[in-house]
Amino acid sequence: MSDGPASGEPVRVVVVFASRTGRTRRMAEALAEGAEATGAAVLLREAEAATHEDLRGCDALVVGSGVHMGGPEATLRAFLAETAPLWLKAELRGKLAAVFASAGDGAQGGAELTLVSMLSTLAEHGMLLVPMHPRLEGFAEGGMHWGPVAATQPHGGEPGPTEVQLVAARSHGRWVAECAARWRRGQSTVGSA
Ligand SMILES: Cc1cc2nc3c(=O)[nH]c(=O)nc-3n(C[C@H](O)[C@H](O)[C@H](O)COP(=O)(O)O)c2cc1C
Repeated sequence: MSDGPASGEPVRVVVVFASRTGRTRRMAEALAEGAEATGAAVLLREAEAATHEDLRGCDALVVGSGVHMGGPEATLRAFLAETAPLWLKAELRGKLAAVFASAGDGAQGGAELTLVSMLSTLAEHGMLLVPMHPRLEGFAEGGMHWGPVAATQPHGGEPGPTEVQLVAARSHGRWVAECAARWRRGQSTVGSA
């Protein structure tokens, strides 16, 4: 695992997302706001612009995508596939990881599979997956246990991401950053494997 930031520095959260029409971007920004509220330093990166250096330097990586044909959008898939060189050197092992998605249909449109698909790559890296606990604010309207989800073109009701779905993204961002801070403190006392 790469060293990442020194223990006195703020926790670093990198949010990598793919968003063709700006809906997932709004979730990414809400997630970043939540993380920043804890004092974390947050880097927002579109999938096409994210670098391996960005990932090496983070404590927590959060990945989000619009749902395309039942799975992650193409540039996000490419971003994940191209992390293979980091896997070869176990450079992301032991960092925290989380996911989020926006889908036209929400739960029915492949959102869950999209979240799990992204998590699968992060698990392959040996990252520590941070799920969304049902007690986090906004979970009922904007969460799955895998992570925040917005239904952006529901058959009935308000198009998303709605304010409460953004609350869910914000609360998960906060939780991920808090977990990263706790993990960093723990590592400084017990050392890393
Ligand atoms: C090519 C394409 C394929 C899509 N496939 C799905 C899908 O399989 N299921 C779904 O629920 N929504 C689907 N959608 C809708 C998007 O997931 C939804 O509008 C999402 O909020 C877009 O996020 P973005 O604005 O960040 O790109 C699709 C949209 C596009 C453009």
